[in-house]
Amino acid sequence: MSKRSVDRRRDDALARVIAVVNDKGGVGKTSVAANLAGQFAGAGYRCLLIDLNRQANLADDLGFRATAVDDLGAGLLGSVIAGTPLEPAADVRPHLDVVCGGARLEDLTPVMVSRLQHHGRGAFRVLGDVLAPVAANYDLVFVDCPPESTILTDLALAAARWVLMPTRSDVGGLVGMTLVADRFALAREINPGLRLLGVVLFGTGTRSSAVHGEARATVEKAFGARSPWFETTIRHAERTAQDARRLGKLAHELEIEAAAQPAWWEALRMDVKAPRLSPTAAGVAGDYRALGVEVLTALHGAEQAGPAPAANRLRRGTPWQGPRAGALPH
Ligand SMILES: Nc1ncnc2c1ncn2[C@@H]1O[C@H](COP(=O)(O)OP(=O)(O)OP(=O)(O)O)[C@@H](O)[C@H]1O
Ligand SMILES: [Mg+2]
Repeated sequence: MSKRSVDRRRDDALARVIAVVNDKGGVGKTSVAANLAGQFAGAGYRCLLIDLNRQANLADDLGFRATAVDDLGAGLLGSVIAGTPLEPAADVRPHLDVVCGGARLEDLTPVMVSRLQHHGRGAFRVLGDVLAPVAANYDLVFVDCPPESTILTDLALAAARWVLMPTRSDVGGLVGMTLVADRFALAREINPGLRLLGVVLFGTGTRSSAVHGEARATVEKAFGARSPWFETTIRHAERTAQDARRLGKLAHELEIEAAAQPAWWEALRMDVKAPRLSPTAAGVAGDYRALGVEVLTALHGAEQAGPAPAANRLRRGTPWQGPRAGALPH
């Protein structure tokens, strides 16, 4: 096969790889990646989550920390070193597979530093190379990126077609976005198809148009005018966030459990000791559903405008379905 058709196949396979990026910590990268992938998987889309974080919060949010699934990032490290296809852990939820992060990713940075010295920035293509053979098995792939780590973020940006950027509306979140814009521009030198899917305001307690306007102005300064922006914001909900990480459950899963718990007076009468789940989970799950619909709409629009990825045409027999809002789990 010619190099051109090998590259085309690789590009097709990676057409729905979404890097969830912001240089600033604590702006919702992991929460957004986990909840979107979880909701899409619940709706029947085959999803893969890749964790590039040493602290591996995805393992907490999905509840597989210290289980047999949790290889601490050893599989990802091994694939990059050997150049062999990633081997995701299957079915952390129905239709949802993961490539774990964790402490073993410490060793990825020195490996990449050495490769960069020998091969230049093209070395960053390695994540895409080991992902492409398996990416074609999935409808959507999300890469949860770490904060403040240029090498791991550069790996993700070289593999992804899309960047989804959560931000908080404070100064730190906005500065983090500007730093990503620089890395985004560099990544496009080796991955010219990379595009901004959209920015989403996370953990916001305000609907103030001044706050939103300032965030939007920062995005446009960093990524250019008419930068895509999600209308949906993810509301500030501390108790739901704590329930999620403590129990290893996603917002829509907590929503179901919160609705099923007995009324507080019945719980009192029955002497139920377990802490009560916050009913706010329903609102947060609704935010992620609305964001999911926007993400699908944006992808669908882009794929209608350009040629459909050959890999998906072949695999599915039908073109990409487009948004199926009603199918996202309630
Ligand atoms: N809707 C929410 N409202 C308020 N806090 C939230 C919400 N969802 C999650 N959180 C909390 O916000 C914090 C940051 O979230 P998250 O871990 O998703 O951010 P991150 O960008 O991935 O952080 P890091 O850069 O450290 O990986 C966590 O403590 C999480 O529990
Ligand atoms: Mg994170």
